[in-house]
Amino acid sequence: MTRDLTGILDAVLAGILVIDAEGRLETCNAAACRMLEVSADSTRGRPVQSLLGPDHALSTLAHGALTRGQSVTANECAVERRFDDDLTVDVSASPLFDAAGDIDGAVVFLRDGTLQRDLQRRVLEREHLAAFESIAAGVAHEVKNPLGGIRGAAEILGARAADTKTTDAADLIVREVDRIAALLDDLMVFTQGDDLQLAPVNIHQLIESVLELLAHDPVQRGVELNREFDPSIPEVLIDADRMTQVFLNLARNALQAMDGSGTLTIRTRMRLDRRLTSRSGQQYPTLRIEFRDTGPGIPAELLDRLATPFFTTRVGGTGLGLAVARHWVVRHEGVLQIESPPDSGARVRVELPLRTSP
Ligand SMILES: Nc1ncnc2c1ncn2[C@@H]1O[C@H](COP(=O)(O)OP(=O)(O)OP(=O)(O)O)[C@@H](O)[C@H]1O
Ligand SMILES: [Mg+2]
Repeated sequence: MTRDLTGILDAVLAGILVIDAEGRLETCNAAACRMLEVSADSTRGRPVQSLLGPDHALSTLAHGALTRGQSVTANECAVERRFDDDLTVDVSASPLFDAAGDIDGAVVFLRDGTLQRDLQRRVLEREHLAAFESIAAGVAHEVKNPLGGIRGAAEILGARAADTKTTDAADLIVREVDRIAALLDDLMVFTQGDDLQLAPVNIHQLIESVLELLAHDPVQRGVELNREFDPSIPEVLIDADRMTQVFLNLARNALQAMDGSGTLTIRTRMRLDRRLTSRSGQQYPTLRIEFRDTGPGIPAELLDRLATPFFTTRVGGTGLGLAVARHWVVRHEGVLQIESPPDSGARVRVELPLRTSP
């Protein structure tokens, strides 16, 4: 029995395009249609370069395979999409030969590397965070203990001082000790790990309560808020206090970046096709909460450093907001993504596993 070739190609997870010797599309399997947001019927007979433009690797590799008669590959090629997130794909093209040995077409493979790269990034992030957590715990512990003694001694000195110079010096010590103690308290966040209080939460109510908290903050003045909520999202199991902290930090960053004028868009979305794997190996659909602002955006060379504790470009900033946010998102087995598309503000996405029951 011979199977239907179209059915087989459609069952393959990689995108497969078959083109004729003139570079016109003959076949576009289901995965390729999904990746490129086209239908198989609409592509038949079209030149391959009409899919993503003549300069895209997809077109140049297809052309290379047809003219040189050799397989060619390119990794991590961006595919911009209108309706869904952009993709990063690995592309390869191989020539097809007729019975006489002449090139009479090519087959192009598209492999979506987005999921694998996401996974690698999550592992790296966890390792990064774990290293920082153990340093933070060590420093906080070692420094905090003697601080109480230093403060007490400075108070005694201040009380016994006969001249104002000594009193002022003692006051300075007390003030600075208090500042260090507050910073250590912030650092202690990173040592609190597995005590999440998970309960079913209406994510939109939680976002509203965050916006309510910010409503009284001068930083929100002049900024328009735009809610794009997906009403079909069910209650999700999260730690409401921790997530409030996450959203507060992200919203505050966006408001600070816009400096009194612009729009903060908060968008929620469910991704049933994108699964997040928990540490126990179970897979969940993804809940995405996106904060998009119309501020100046973030220079590409800074993007990787942002969630590093104490990295800040803001006068008066501590540089802990994003690091704390990432800490709690990772504890929820989610992902925090910071992007800054060209010609627009910053876009920060929190992706959480959509767990609905314990
Ligand atoms: N929405 C945004 N637009 C532009 N830059 C941003 C945005 N969010 C964060 N950043 C950049 O990332 C840096 C780190 O942010 P983070 O929240 O960790 O610290 P911070 O805001 O500087 O200080 P704080 O500890 O008070 O939050 C900021 O100093 C800023 O440069
Ligand atoms: Mg901040």
